[in-house]
Amino acid sequence: VVPTLTLKSGEKMPIIGLGTWQSKPGEVGQALKIALNNGYRHFDCAHVYMNQDEIGQVLEEAIAQGLVNREELFITSKIWNTFHSYEKAKEGVDIILQQLKLKYIDLLLIHSPMGYQEGEEMFPWTEDGSRMHFSDVDYLDTWKGLEEAVQAGKVKSIGLSNFNSQQIQRVIDHSHIQPAVLQVELHPYFQQTKLVNFCKEKGIEVTAYSPLGSMTAPFRKEGQANLLEDPVILEIAKHHNKSPAQVAIRWSIQRGLIVIPKSTNEHRIKENFDVFGFELSKDEMAKMAGIDRNWRIFDLAARNGDHKYFPYNDEF
Ligand code: A2P
Repeated sequence: VVPTLTLKSGEKMPIIGLGTWQSKPGEVGQALKIALNNGYRHFDCAHVYMNQDEIGQVLEEAIAQGLVNREELFITSKIWNTFHSYEKAKEGVDIILQQLKLKYIDLLLIHSPMGYQEGEEMFPWTEDGSRMHFSDVDYLDTWKGLEEAVQAGKVKSIGLSNFNSQQIQRVIDHSHIQPAVLQVELHPYFQQTKLVNFCKEKGIEVTAYSPLGSMTAPFRKEGQANLLEDPVILEIAKHHNKSPAQVAIRWSIQRGLIVIPKSTNEHRIKENFDVFGFELSKDEMAKMAGIDRNWRIFDLAARNGDHKYFPYNDEF
């Protein structure tokens, strides 16, 4: 049984889940089956990952076959940037429910504070391909749509992703339902200590995406540092007879975070879940704190930096 954290909403969230970004259609379903068979109950999804139909099929089958109950599952999804107006957000919730073949979603996040032009295209590129067509819809409108989905029983908990502390505070100040979770990039090379402390003070739990920092091109480029080869992590891994990935995941858990490593490989899916039989010492946690590089790998500044709500121009 996976440990859980209790969210503001009162719902319990398993502290480890399977990430599905960049899990290809045709592969993601198999990955899910392997994960389900090995104890995972929490799955991190999003409309924009374009693989929710296949995930929904596997979930539906697993429930029908009695492998899991719906109540044991914890399914997260995210409202994409082209669904930011109040009406669109509500439409987005229904699309997600339909794709995932669920009557309710456990946690629904606003994927990013930045709205994109609404329409058929998820990525409405400008003609010259340099950036997206933005919309300046206020994410507080999106939040209202999410609050309404909670009231309608379609969603249990709501939260934010890729928001900075000022934007989170603005949602807190203008909401009926407080954000339960913030999901952001977070790993030993990008420890986000200020933002984590801010959230913890507000009672918001933090989910670490890309917890292995192993994002691939075009985000982490060939030849750039790979934290799974970091000497400090390798040494700690050797000492515990664990892999560098297990050390990174264990480190996130011991910081009180929720963590969602992505894999479609059977061996690695199992490995990433096998992190409850060892503990990093105080000294090892201190050593890990020392390898922070404040390095955001998933930096969309080039395409989005002049968006009204681009989050990363602020300090944290
Ligand atoms: P794969 O799906 O082939 O396992 P993150 O969640 O930090 O973005 O990391 C995901 C990337 O790390 C994917 O490329 C994934 O590839 C790879 N990965 C997942 N688990 C492990 C592991 N235990 N060891 C090494 N690489 C891993």
